Formats: sequence, structure tokens, C-alpha cells
Amino acid sequence: MTEALLGIDIGTSGCKALLIDAQGGVLASSTASYPLSQPRPGWTEQDPALWLAGARKAVAGALEKSGKVDILAVGLSGQMHGLTPLDADLEVLRPAILWNDQRNQAECDAITESAGGLGTLLAHTGNRMLVGYTGGKIAWMKAHESELYGRMRHALNPKDYLRLVLTGAIATEVSDASGTGLFDVRKRQWADDLIAAAGIDRALLPDCFESHEITGRVSASGASLFGLPEGTPVAGGGGDSVIQTIGSGVISPGELQTTIGTAGILAAALDEPIACGDGRIQLFCNVCPDKWHAMGVSLNAGGAMSWFRQVLAQAGNDALGFEDIVAAAEKSPVGARGLLFLPYLNGERCPHPDPQARGAFVGLTARHGLADMSRSVMEGVVHAFYEMYALMGEMGVNGEIIKASGGGVRAPLWRQIQADMFGCDVVTTEGAAEGAAFGAALVAGMGAQVWQDGNEAAGVLRELTRERPNTDTAAPYRRAHDIYRALYPALSSSLAALGHPQLDG
Ligand code: XUL
Repeated sequence: MTEALLGIDIGTSGCKALLIDAQGGVLASSTASYPLSQPRPGWTEQDPALWLAGARKAVAGALEKSGKVDILAVGLSGQMHGLTPLDADLEVLRPAILWNDQRNQAECDAITESAGGLGTLLAHTGNRMLVGYTGGKIAWMKAHESELYGRMRHALNPKDYLRLVLTGAIATEVSDASGTGLFDVRKRQWADDLIAAAGIDRALLPDCFESHEITGRVSASGASLFGLPEGTPVAGGGGDSVIQTIGSGVISPGELQTTIGTAGILAAALDEPIACGDGRIQLFCNVCPDKWHAMGVSLNAGGAMSWFRQVLAQAGNDALGFEDIVAAAEKSPVGARGLLFLPYLNGERCPHPDPQARGAFVGLTARHGLADMSRSVMEGVVHAFYEMYALMGEMGVNGEIIKASGGGVRAPLWRQIQADMFGCDVVTTEGAAEGAAFGAALVAGMGAQVWQDGNEAAGVLRELTRERPNTDTAAPYRRAHDIYRALYPALSSSLAALGHPQLDG
């Protein structure tokens, strides 16, 4: 029977299950989608029962496609930062509050203050307490839902809730723990002093493992729910935006990864923990034990493209799919004829940590049409990456190659825009388009000793595509980027003012 590794990713829009063989080849994958709810402006929530149903369906789909396999280990990944609050009976207390939720700026400020200010916080954790991180969500529950907070006994990230149901183990691993904002990434352990100073109950936080370590085994009930053999080892896994770097082979300094999923992520692997001066670049533990991970996260990348398609659908163009928008964008020249798009549709995190930020098309004229608007949405996402890259440059983190991943890599144009703006090759590797589930399967393989370390695991990846920079476009992109960079500082107070309840209740 073929030996296989199973990666399960609890994403924001759906769950993917993916089986690979011991050479890293994809055997089968299956996805099940679920919705996200936005009960108030800026709030994003999901019922964890949707994740479980999605995971059951996706695992069943992958197993059906692969035929009989011998699963050596399971690796878990998921959307990061989400808070799944559980009571003493391990029942979910309220819908999970997700990574892109914007409700807790006040609590983040209070945690920063209790730490003694941003400088001390960065010294404790390597990170600023960004809106979106789990720590601020726990504090929000304490301040606004005190009865539920009083009953909460465990605060788990999404993939760790799946782990609990699959194995009975209450555990996390270093990459997701980093994304709570309550973790000392340099020491790879919980930041107990900060947690106490912030008034957060330390007992809520699970035991923390390295990502490849086996955290438990599929239990009898997990086996019957998910159709997996009882006793199968389950590795720690990792937060999606960290684990997908190994899935595209980014494990050494000098390589960058871009991901166009719902969010847009620019990431780099580090051999030592280098913090960003003001914490706008996130510093997390890598899924490889002796490595770290620097990243900037823009909240809307593929999400901006989906929004644009939905707007067109409301105007009766629901036949326009992703490929149609890309085909339209191809008809517009570099710079979209002087049209820029700011992708801050749901607030922003990096490079502008600002829940009140709003998106914009800037430079519209009567000459602009669907082609230019489509292109400016795609270019706007890459301008956001390039702005984050300047912050990484200030930290001494540079890249000579981009390894691209996420659903957005399907569009050669989106890869070419990156190659042109960054002036370097953009490659994709087999499996990278599968996203975090692929990284989770590789990390499961490290846990099952199929590969001795991250280098060996990443060594199995095969290059699929390569876009080279077109030097003719360097000057127009540089000019457009200079204008793009000046827009947020010029517009931010107006954008925030547009959120006034009299205008946008
Ligand atoms: C990472 C982050 C996002 C989510 C998306 O910090 O917030 O990448 O993990 O799934």
C-alpha cells in the first residue's frame, strides 16, 4: 500500500485535505467550503462546527480519490490567530473570532500599556499586539463578554480545535503560539510575565510543541468521525501563513515568499530572530525548529479580487470568473493608465496597522474601464507587497527570488507583475498552489521521520513555472509605486472619517 502523509488546512473560506506520498508527490486533494459571518462592521466570525464538517468532508473526499493508502502521520494547519473559546466540558462558548476581525484595538492598546509600552512588548514577544492576534481577542472577551470569559477554560486557535476533536489533545505549536502575541518567539515559549501583566489567565493557553513534534494520536472518536485509522500520529503542524513557506521551499535567507490567498503575505525565513523596529513586520517561530519567520500581512489580496468580482456580479456580470478578470487586466498596460487601487477593504494590518483604513481607486477618469480597474486591483495587491518589502529591507532582510503561492499564482499576469515590480525571478513549485495543506503534509513527514529536517522536506519540491523580470517596466512601476506609497499618509484621516456612524452606521 502507498505510504502517505495527510495535511488538513482549516482555511477561512474552506477546508482542504491533501495526501502526498513520501516523495512529496500529490496523491489526492479535496476541499469543502464554508461561509464566514460578519455580524457587525469590522467583525468576522465562524462557527467551529463548520470547520469540523468541512474537515470531515474534505478528508473523506481526499481518501476516496486516493484509494487505499497507509497514512504515516497527519499535519494540521489553519487560519491563524482565531479565538475558539471552550468551557470546562470542551464545549465551544461562542463563534470563533477570526484573524481579520477588527474589533479589539482598545484591548491591544491596553495590553501594550500593561507591558510597559511598545518597546518592552517587542522585547517580550518580538511582536507588537496587532489587532487580529489572539491575545487582544481574549482581552476583548474579558472586557465585553465577562460571563463567557468566566466560563472559558481553553483558548484555542482553529487548527488546534480540530486537533482536540481528532486526538483529544489540548496543544498548540510554536508558529500559531507566536500569533497570539503572548509568546516569546526568541525563547520559543509562552511570555508568562506579559500574560500576567495583561491580566490574562495563563491556564487558558495550551501546552506548546515544536511544529514537527507529535502532539497526539487519532482517538477512537476521531477515527470514527474522520475515517482515519485510530492511533495515527498527529504532528503539531503550523499556522497557514508560516507553514506554507516550507510548502514552497522557502527555508533559507535570500528567498521570499508571496502568497495571494484571501490575505496577501510577504514572508522570509530567518536563521535568527530579527525583530522589526516598530513591529509592523511580524516575527514568528518557523515550523523548522532552528528558524524564524518574518512576514507582512495585507488583509485583502485574493479577497480584493473576490470583492471586485462580487461587485460585478451585482451588476449582472456573474459569468465573470477569476480568469475573466485576469484576461480583462491583460488588456490594460503597466500602471493601468494611471489608475491605482488601495486594497484596504477590511482595514489593514501591514504596512499600515489601521482597522479604520478603507480601500480606494485613485486616479479614475472617464477613459478607465473594466480592463484598467481589473489591472489596478491586481497591481494594488503587489504594491502592498512591495511596500512591506521596504520594511523588511530596513531589517536587513532581502530576497533574490520570490516563490509564489496561494490561489493567485494561477494567474501568470499576477506572477509577472511581481517579477517586474520586485525585479527578480518569480517561481512556483509543485504543491505550492495547494497552499498550507501541502506544508502541513511536509511537516507531518518531518514528524514521521520521512524527512530528517526542513531542508530535506523542501528538497522534494519541483519547479513548475518561472517568470523573469521585464526591465522595460521597471521605470513605470517605480513611478507608480512612489505615488502609491504617498497615498495612505495623505488619505488616512479622510478614510477614517468616512467610517463615522452618520455616514456608515
Ligand atoms: C497571518 C494572518 C493570515 C491568516 C489567514 O498573520 O493573519 O495569514 O492566517 O489565513
